[in-house]
Amino acid sequence: MDTYPIGLRREELDTPTLCLDADALERNIARMADFLRARGVGLRPHSKTHKCSTIAWKQLRAGAVGITCAKVSEAEVMAQAGIRDILIANQIVTPHKIARLVNLAAYTEVMVAVEDWANAQALSEAAQAKGVKLRTIIEVDVGMGRCGTAPGEPTLALAQKVLALKGLDFRGLMGYEGHAVMIPDLEARRQAVEAAMRRLLETRDLLLHHSIPVEVVSAGGTGTYQMTSQYQGITDLQCGSYATMDAKYRSVGIDFEPALTVIARVISVRGADHAVIDAGMKALTTEFGLPQVIHPQGWALTRLSEEHGILARQGGDPLSRGDLIEIVPSHGCTTINLHGAYTVLRQGVVEAVWPIAARGCVQ
Ligand SMILES: Cc1ncc(COP(=O)(O)O)c(C=O)c1O
Repeated sequence: MDTYPIGLRREELDTPTLCLDADALERNIARMADFLRARGVGLRPHSKTHKCSTIAWKQLRAGAVGITCAKVSEAEVMAQAGIRDILIANQIVTPHKIARLVNLAAYTEVMVAVEDWANAQALSEAAQAKGVKLRTIIEVDVGMGRCGTAPGEPTLALAQKVLALKGLDFRGLMGYEGHAVMIPDLEARRQAVEAAMRRLLETRDLLLHHSIPVEVVSAGGTGTYQMTSQYQGITDLQCGSYATMDAKYRSVGIDFEPALTVIARVISVRGADHAVIDAGMKALTTEFGLPQVIHPQGWALTRLSEEHGILARQGGDPLSRGDLIEIVPSHGCTTINLHGAYTVLRQGVVEAVWPIAARGCVQ
């Protein structure tokens, strides 16, 4: 961002711009923190959503026990901002990334997931060579069919071997129920969470039965936080989207406030029913469906090309060139990754610009 538009009103901003409503963001952060605190469950918010250390620090100040990352490069950005307790909830397998990971462990409390014995050995050797002990949890596949060990005996077998590795400090388990978080029917979602948490907690019990200490049992997403946090034994949740939110999560009944919007402007009109805006696929993503126009009412996006969005009238007043359009992204995590900074507004006036420093950190 070339300019620093503090004090400008939303209507004065150039477009397209990624906007964040500071009041809504702060209320979302406080609401999740208060909810989990009341249940005695920790929160390790996933920073793959916001990719911004300023927001991560707000979450930590609200009581989060640490921050979750998906990638080493993301964790490096958070560490450079002074964040110390970082969970990389992912498999880190290549020598170069392992070297970066143990470098991080030299000055942060990083914790990494493993699912494989050879990988655990490689991590341990690198940690020993660096003179650090790398905190490690085993990722269990609780039904998502992504990464992770099979629950039960295979996880126990890996835990017993990991315990013997001198470079690793075994802390526990994680099991992300990502297949459940967006199930629209609440009862079906509850059943999927029940099955997932049974797999995770029975595995924890098996380890405890074999005298293996399990300090951390981490799970959860924005779509399941109320359900997952009810299970005795879950120590912390890894929710990400709740802070900024998006239209997809709101469509499945998650009612955190839509703090994140993209504002755009009408650049072309044809008759009363067709308008074109200056935001396309380079400002908004569509894998979770088309983004939602929230202002003005009575207009909807029908398609995006690279730099254009096509609007169709659905009962609203006709638009003119230059009109401001406010849009809630369908998927916040991937939309945020398209932008360099948030323009942060309070009551419609720009208060700050926060860099999205981990934007593009996919390594
Ligand atoms: C490992 C892991 N934990 C937690 C989450 C939860 O994120 P959200 O709250 O945005 O659903 C995700 C989302 O992709 C994830 O991959």
